[in-house]
Amino acid sequence: MKILYIASEALPYVSTGGLADVMGSLPAAVKKASNGNLDARVVLPMYSSIKYSMDSSFEFVGECSVSLSWRSLYCGIWKTELRGVTFYFIDNEYYFNRSMTYGEYDDGERFAYFGRAVLSLISCVGFIPDIVHANDWQSAAAVIYLRRQTYDNDLMRNIKILFTIHNIEYQGVYGMSILGDVFGLGGGDANIVEYNGNINLLKGAIVSSDMISTVSERYSNEILTEYYSCGLHHILRASRDKLTGIVNGIDTDYYNPQKDPEIKNRFNEDCLDGKLENKRELREICGIKGDENAPLLIMVSRLASHKGFDLVKRVLYELLSQTDITFAILGTGENEYEEFFKSVSKDFPGRAGVKLEYNKALSKQFYAGADMFLMPSKSEPCGLSQMIASRYGTVPIVRETGGLHDTIKPYNEYTGQGNGFSFANYNAHEMMNIIKYAVQIYRDNERWEKLIKNVMRTDFSWEASAKKYLRLYDSML
Ligand code: GLC
Repeated sequence: MKILYIASEALPYVSTGGLADVMGSLPAAVKKASNGNLDARVVLPMYSSIKYSMDSSFEFVGECSVSLSWRSLYCGIWKTELRGVTFYFIDNEYYFNRSMTYGEYDDGERFAYFGRAVLSLISCVGFIPDIVHANDWQSAAAVIYLRRQTYDNDLMRNIKILFTIHNIEYQGVYGMSILGDVFGLGGGDANIVEYNGNINLLKGAIVSSDMISTVSERYSNEILTEYYSCGLHHILRASRDKLTGIVNGIDTDYYNPQKDPEIKNRFNEDCLDGKLENKRELREICGIKGDENAPLLIMVSRLASHKGFDLVKRVLYELLSQTDITFAILGTGENEYEEFFKSVSKDFPGRAGVKLEYNKALSKQFYAGADMFLMPSKSEPCGLSQMIASRYGTVPIVRETGGLHDTIKPYNEYTGQGNGFSFANYNAHEMMNIIKYAVQIYRDNERWEKLIKNVMRTDFSWEASAKKYLRLYDSML
């Protein structure tokens, strides 16, 4: 079976969030699950950050021209191989030699170009996949163009399309007036992409795909409701038959406290001494002082409102005043929250550490040195941090939504089962009460140690989910 993954980011080449983790690990995991009976290739834009740091494994494959509306555009194709997976890169300096991955005024045009270029790549390298597996709105134009080709072009007629929604909040919405000029679409195509009077690329990809998946089962149900769908519930309900959910895994080799070169002291579930040392280091880094046994609660997150920061803002002062808990946060984002955390660190010196930066290496030290990890998201398609924290023995406290619901089962003090703590409603005091309950369990050394073991032993590898993807691909053919 031949699969072509389309995405706008993948580790280790380019990353702005969870999508890159998934695209960097899923293709290899699926290949492994197939016992090598699968040819997995990935196509990405050649951002300048990749182009100007590529090593000798990169090879120039060739060039072709891409036509989009009235434009005829250059497309260079590069490739390299990693863990048995071929990565192609679409090179066009006009579109991708930018300081930003996204957020440019012409993102619509950039990813329309990318979509067309993917079709050119398929014919140019002669790799006709059985399945195209496209991801998020940046790959949506590719899906819309490809669907046309499966009607018109003998070579591509049998290609099946799976589209994965990693986050429905980002849809690629543009004014209808640029449909022809920028996207090269018109006539009957307007119906495909039009939604509420605008071009909506995500909607176009949903109706053009054979199957749609989300990154957890729970989220695939949630997005059928108005609360979670960001306006697309009608379309998704109409496409319900082709909608499914498969929870993400993480790269458990990369996130491994026993081998990780990025953490100071290595450890495993049978010997947690290294974790204690890491807690000392982390306290030092964050300027936390006083009783070393005080529980350390952390957050590692983009400071965006859907990550649940309204709840944190509402009760963190109360929590820090009423308990001896210590708190540290790592992340950047919306100004409102950055300012809030600056005040917290000023008002609670020695109790709260605030690092307003995006720093992957430091995030490991956070995961490895803390006691509890807070992730109270308003919505969370899957979430990877709760799984990463768990690998490093930091007990997650989450809101029961999306992938957080599917990956974290609440601790039961009577049976000792569960791998974290959770609360149901998007309510600040409900969150605070569950944090206080976690602190109560933390005080009971024996129980807490057993809970850490449960947490660290939970299987978050790709193995089970890769098999589910394989079955899904099979069912589509
Ligand atoms: C997006 C989602 C996140 C998910 C990730 C990978 O970033 O917001 O929940 O884990 O994609 O699928």
